[in-house]
Amino acid sequence: MINDIESILMTEEQIQERVHAIGQQLSKDYEGKFPVFVGVLKGSFMFMADVMRQVSIPCQVDFMAVSSYGSGTSTTGAVKINKDLSQDIEGRHVVIIEDILDSGVTLGYLTKYLQNRNPASITIATLLDKPARRKADVYATYAGFEIPDAFVVGYGLDYAEKYRNLPFIGILKPEIYS
Ligand code: IMP
Ligand code: MG
Repeated sequence: MINDIESILMTEEQIQERVHAIGQQLSKDYEGKFPVFVGVLKGSFMFMADVMRQVSIPCQVDFMAVSSYGSGTSTTGAVKINKDLSQDIEGRHVVIIEDILDSGVTLGYLTKYLQNRNPASITIATLLDKPARRKADVYATYAGFEIPDAFVVGYGLDYAEKYRNLPFIGILKPEIYS
């Protein structure tokens, strides 16, 4: 598995340092607001688990599962909801927890979809941000790392459902997907 990685972008230690800082920032910003943290499956599962351990305020946790149609290394633009929230978010402060903000199509769609339920607010916390590839007008209030336009895997992120279990984030060798 490690032989498929071209280079390591963020080590386990670097990830933990940023994730801790984001968790502490969220705890400050949402003090007294009893937020709902919504993890977007599957890619966010590690980030969600680590960031939630640094959130020190009362809150709730929920999950959604979405998939963009098409496989490979880029989205086709259409988004499918595979699992919806298990609770009402009307009047609630919602924080979407995502692995990576790439074209922004997925989070753009998801934000509008949840906005229809009249939450008090919606913000986005993403571990990774690839601003060079943005197509939709989406902004992440909390972003762990800005990364270049390369396909990355590990720490929850996959290629064809593989590599999610790597503890670091690395650039996948292009010959693996081309
Ligand atoms: P977007 O809709 O283009 O912003 O894509 C978001 C989704 O595409 C993410 O939730 C990931 O599942 C996937 N994705 C985008 N870039 C990468 C990458 O570099 N590695 C792994 N998955 C990615
Ligand atoms: Mg994915």
